[in-house]
Amino acid sequence: MLNTTPEFIAKAEPDGVNSPTVGPDAVPIAMQVNGVTRTLRAEPSMTLAETLRGPLGLTGTKIACNRGACSACTVWLDGDPVCACMILAIDVGGRSVTTIEGLADGDTLHPVQQAFIDHDALQCGFCTPEMIMSCAALLEHTADPNASEVRAAISGHICRCGTYPHVIAATLDAAKVRRG
Ligand code: FES
Ligand code: FES
Repeated sequence: MLNTTPEFIAKAEPDGVNSPTVGPDAVPIAMQVNGVTRTLRAEPSMTLAETLRGPLGLTGTKIACNRGACSACTVWLDGDPVCACMILAIDVGGRSVTTIEGLADGDTLHPVQQAFIDHDALQCGFCTPEMIMSCAALLEHTADPNASEVRAAISGHICRCGTYPHVIAATLDAAKVRRG
């Protein structure tokens, strides 16, 4: 619960007073996206998800709830899956962003991408980028996951088409392929 006691607010004020003020107009921002430094101008209120889809033209990242409740906007920040609608672009700083567009190795799909095709793990495809980003992140630190671990990795993701069993099968198969 947020602490709103007068004592807490009084203690918090000095930091706020010394923080630099930027905006509300667009400010220059530079960020590492899919291994490339991208520069743009964006209002400080713009989220990372809005910035990726708008100025940077990377529309693979989706926005649905826009408040951290559905995982549609999942990208990696320094390799960890995060909800890009809950992070301001201006706060990304030196951390590296990876989107679904940056997952393949040239013309070679990431094993999770290929397994989603092989296992028919998509119907309308709206949730596919977010699911792949979280499943691929799982395989980065868990080479041989079980179905429960895959389920945990995609908890919070909403597939309106109900492809969950295929997503789990695809991820387990991709893990096998990666292990060789
Ligand atoms: S759009 Fe970001 S969590 Fe739903
Ligand atoms: S495939 Fe349609 S929302 Fe998941």
